[in-house]
Amino acid sequence: MNESNDKPNFGLTGLAVMGQNLARNVAHKGFPLAVHNRTTEKTDKFIEQHGGEGRIVGSKDIESFVNALQTPRAIMIMVKAGKPVDDVIAELKPLLAQGDLLIDGGNSLFSDTERRVKALNDEGFLFIGTGVSGGEEGALHGPSIMPGGSQSAYDIVAPIFTKIAAQVDDGGGKVTPCCTFIGEGGAGHYVKMVHNGIEYADMQLIAEAYDLLKNGLGLTNDELHDVFTQWNEGDLDSFLIEITAQIFARRDDEGGDAYLLDKVLDKAAQKGTGKWTAQNALDLGIPVTTITEAVYARTLSAFKDQRVAASQALSGPSGRFEGDKQQFIDSVRDALYASKVVAYAQGFEQMLAAAKEYGWTLHPGEIATIWRGGCIIRARFLDRIKEAYDTQPDLANLLLAPYFTDAIKSASDGWRRVVGEAARLGVPIPAFSSALAYYDGYRRERLPANLIQAQRDLFGAHTYERTDKPGTFHSQWVDDKQEPKSQAQHGVQTTG
Ligand code: 6PG
Repeated sequence: MNESNDKPNFGLTGLAVMGQNLARNVAHKGFPLAVHNRTTEKTDKFIEQHGGEGRIVGSKDIESFVNALQTPRAIMIMVKAGKPVDDVIAELKPLLAQGDLLIDGGNSLFSDTERRVKALNDEGFLFIGTGVSGGEEGALHGPSIMPGGSQSAYDIVAPIFTKIAAQVDDGGGKVTPCCTFIGEGGAGHYVKMVHNGIEYADMQLIAEAYDLLKNGLGLTNDELHDVFTQWNEGDLDSFLIEITAQIFARRDDEGGDAYLLDKVLDKAAQKGTGKWTAQNALDLGIPVTTITEAVYARTLSAFKDQRVAASQALSGPSGRFEGDKQQFIDSVRDALYASKVVAYAQGFEQMLAAAKEYGWTLHPGEIATIWRGGCIIRARFLDRIKEAYDTQPDLANLLLAPYFTDAIKSASDGWRRVVGEAARLGVPIPAFSSALAYYDGYRRERLPANLIQAQRDLFGAHTYERTDKPGTFHSQWVDDKQEPKSQAQHGVQTTG
């Protein structure tokens, strides 16, 4: 092996925590790599602390970083989404050789990734935009990785990515890595975006369950810890339920008997991926109501000062549940499960609509497979989603898969009880109730949209279709002489 062949192919620039942990993960799996950071002190510190964990070359500047790698190079960029990614690409490009590969591992907007893939391919480079989920711990020990761009670009890094990804034990000695090529262009980042949308929904649903059990039922943090620990042993078994149980048990370091959760300000922050999911769903015409309500709920939570004032000015119930406590806890569990199924059904429907719109071939069963480990929304029931799509790849909606049809049927009574009871108690449950409204809307053969069409046709001659014959129709809904009362009263001129 000559000297140049000793050089690693893989490099990583951007040594914030996610970048550091991914770099360490790569090194731990036996792959040599070069690392770089805009500020050299960070690189030096990283090498000092972790340089011994594998074959890691630290580079002082971008030129020596690129030169430390042999071609074809694969350089992972772990910087903030948006302009910083374009800046790093612009800095690297003049130093690269044709055929080199750049990989953006941040939470980039999928349309930015589409643009970058095209621009770099046109210039003879390869580009991957990949979702990496699992937070800091996941990055270090095994994230779920969602790469998009081109199959040939993915093939270059597949040996590393499939090794550093979380591994799910499928029994009988079969282990499946939580990484697969997602699709062309921005498909990887798109799927990561929807993952995050579902993450928002999941978190909001859990928060609503917490609100109902704490404020509606009066459970203590210790009791909540026990309930969630128990839930994590059943169908709700998931990372988010598990960490929620742990959160309830955490005492405040500031002293006393207080629980840390009770000291946390009730204003939820967001970096934008949930909002992107909702915005894009509106563009595609896909009702991802549970995800969108979760985004709105965070937005409403941010109006803390207004809410404090409104809590004094606005009236409404704020009572306690009276009745069978255990039955109510079980109903909340059922409502959580059924609403969660709806959130996933909506998210998968959005991904499949996006595939059509943007020309990607997405495999929902494979997406469910790589979400089973490593990522924030990892959950036992993703096995069932994978099975549903394996059995019926063209499934129109997850709710129609027999397993989920039955699961919702069993959860339905509890779900409805909870939504009704929450309204009675004045506990806001936007995600539970919008999920139920979606479910009831989706299962309705006839909705009141006929009236909306009639109204549109009356005031704007927008036409309507009929149930008994094809074609589009317009009707004179009211006698010309019979001016609608409101217009007569306010003197509004009829325009059409
Ligand atoms: C993940 C997460 C992660 C995300 C955080 C915070 O999959 O590891 O989705 O990518 O950045 O969860 O997101 P918000 O700040 O928008 O809540």
